[in-house]
Amino acid sequence: MSEANSTRVAIVTGGARGIGAATAQRLAADGFAVAVLDLDEASAQGTVDAIKAAGGQGLAVGADVSDAEQVQTAVDRIAAELGAPVVLVNNAGVLRDNMLFKMSDSDWDIVMNVHLRGAFLMSRAAQKHMIEQKWGRIVNLSSTSALGNRGQANYSTAKAGLQGFTKTLAIELGKFGVTANAIAPGFIQTEMTKATADRMGIPFDDFIKGAGASIPVARVGQPEDIAHLVSFFCSEGAGFISGQVVYAAGGPKA
Ligand SMILES: NC(=O)c1ccc[n+]([C@@H]2O[C@H](COP(=O)([O-])OP(=O)(O)OC[C@H]3O[C@@H](n4cnc5c(N)ncnc54)[C@H](O)[C@@H]3O)[C@@H](O)[C@H]2O)c1
Repeated sequence: MSEANSTRVAIVTGGARGIGAATAQRLAADGFAVAVLDLDEASAQGTVDAIKAAGGQGLAVGADVSDAEQVQTAVDRIAAELGAPVVLVNNAGVLRDNMLFKMSDSDWDIVMNVHLRGAFLMSRAAQKHMIEQKWGRIVNLSSTSALGNRGQANYSTAKAGLQGFTKTLAIELGKFGVTANAIAPGFIQTEMTKATADRMGIPFDDFIKGAGASIPVARVGQPEDIAHLVSFFCSEGAGFISGQVVYAAGGPKA
């Protein structure tokens, strides 16, 4: 077995920053060779540089997860250059928040395409390798918004949809040694939540303080809080846990 094949390979979408970057670094520290996939290869390279500086293995890949051709090309390239991917973290995401009466067709379509179509295309391309290896882990990023959130008819629908997707993958792929689980984070301090603060005209520090005050553990989440749970779902010992949604929100959000 070549060296490239002796290490398990993971793909983290949206890995250039935020939760994806922390997750890619955590999985690399756990011993996976990590393909960091994002819209722009150069932005993903920053995460790969951090992985390599810490002694890990990584590959930066540019692709739009909502584009079928780009997804297939990316997964083929990862399999050829890093090895067969057996872990997939569907983390890439965007917001196009608006109240229903102001929500445009494109606000709706972009959010559906990145979260739902993206997770579908990536999972369909990657599962082939997992099934061949008779081992795999798929982790989908849902959100507490799946329970409903003002101004997020598109996003809450996509994040609830990902929960159904996760449960179905768990049922279909279980007999091949592949688990599928979802993580539903609450407020995590990233560029995504900063953009929401900016849009609302609230300084990010005040926004964080306000959010933290309503969370039982009395703080907002950090990307590493989510990376830790991804690491658990991808571990060898988590093979009997599948089709689950864990709310990582600093309290019993669900
Ligand atoms: N931050 C939070 O509070 C929070 C809460 C619940 C769920 N989430 C979910 O967690 C995930 C990560 O969130 P984050 O806060 O780190 O966001 P972020 O905006 O900081 O990072 C998202 C990354 O996804 C990439 N991306 C966007 N569209 C893409 C596409 N079509 N193809 C490939 N990459 C694409 C972006 O370039 C970016 O690097 C998202 O799915 C988000 O919905 C975040």
